[in-house]
Amino acid sequence: MARSFIAELATSGHTVPVRACVYESNPPVWLFPSIGEYPLYDDFAYGQMLKDELRMSRYAEAVRRYAPGRTVLDIGTGQDAVWALAAARAGARHVWAVEVIPKSAQIAREAIEQAGFADRITVVEGLSTEIELADPVDMCVSEIIGTLGGSEGAGAVLRDARERLVKPGGVFIPHRSVTTAVALDLTSAAAGELPSFPLFTFRYVEQVFASVGRPFDLRVCLVGLQDDPQTQERSYVSDTAEVEPLEFNGELRPEGVDRAELTFTRRGRFHGLALGMRLWVAEGDEPLDSLVQPSSWTPVYAPLSEAGLPVRPGDRFEFQFTTAMSDDGVHPDYALTGKLRRDVGPAVPLRWSSAHHQHGFRSTPFYRSLFPET
Ligand SMILES: C[S@@+](CC[C@H](N)C(=O)[O-])C[C@H]1O[C@@H](n2cnc3c(N)ncnc32)[C@H](O)[C@@H]1O
Repeated sequence: MARSFIAELATSGHTVPVRACVYESNPPVWLFPSIGEYPLYDDFAYGQMLKDELRMSRYAEAVRRYAPGRTVLDIGTGQDAVWALAAARAGARHVWAVEVIPKSAQIAREAIEQAGFADRITVVEGLSTEIELADPVDMCVSEIIGTLGGSEGAGAVLRDARERLVKPGGVFIPHRSVTTAVALDLTSAAAGELPSFPLFTFRYVEQVFASVGRPFDLRVCLVGLQDDPQTQERSYVSDTAEVEPLEFNGELRPEGVDRAELTFTRRGRFHGLALGMRLWVAEGDEPLDSLVQPSSWTPVYAPLSEAGLPVRPGDRFEFQFTTAMSDDGVHPDYALTGKLRRDVGPAVPLRWSSAHHQHGFRSTPFYRSLFPET
């Protein structure tokens, strides 16, 4: 029985039809909008991050290693002020905890007071790119890494922090990130159905549309991808490529063009890419990897072919991945153009783009089917 149906989203006084499902019907894979870049954080989103044990333990370790005796800037402290409190507990001299969402900043302030650290942690409400500090700090901790490494603006925001708010040679946590890409075959994962938005995600889609001021082809994540080598539940059909390198303790380039290639490792149908991130929290750490570890970062879906193009081991997808700053100066627009090269037949050109806030709506077959015109 089909799980998906057409429902309606409410946006700027009118409704938009959308392919939907009920979460309780246990859809094999489903869609969730990429929300961190707007930034739409609530109890649910902060809660998911606190439950991500690997993320929490890597950050806690790094903060304990670097914070003692230092002055610290925590960019995006969130409502729990986790890294500001961890730094103060580890013996930081003083922490400036910056948060742009007013409600989160207020809750953070209360949490800090309750924990008895109001004298050593100052909460600053606002964007880190718009604040001033009397003196630059010794180190900066932040977790503004997106579903794509730089999608929440880590490149531009942390470059600004390095130039204005942190002493020369000051330490940055995290150390580096990359965006990762792997080819997807959704045949078994989607069980014959196109992935849809569960009803509970509507409020997030509506808030993303509201923050941009109109409906548009928003960036979507795929939840529930299976890639278990022990079973037939395999979704990944290629090796993995890295693009968008961001060196937070080195030369930080928030924009760029990367060339990469994926080699197919299994026979299947090529529907698109899963894009994720690897994150080295401190220098010398093993990276967190959102494509292979269960984590609070969900892979972004870059649909390339609705029907799926048949592929065999040894076929290749060569592509160029472009990260360009959107006109807000912080959040990147992404574009990917490539060619599928198979054993036989001509190369097949494929493309995907995902702007932070764009005018295009229903601009590709994927979005025309996700938001059908009735
Ligand atoms: C992924 S959450 C991390 C929250 C917390 N630090 C943690 O690791 O659990 C990112 C937070 O950073 C905030 N944020 C993003 N960019 C910011 C900026 N440039 N200045 C201040 N806050 C920012 C968001 O509102 C959000 O609360």
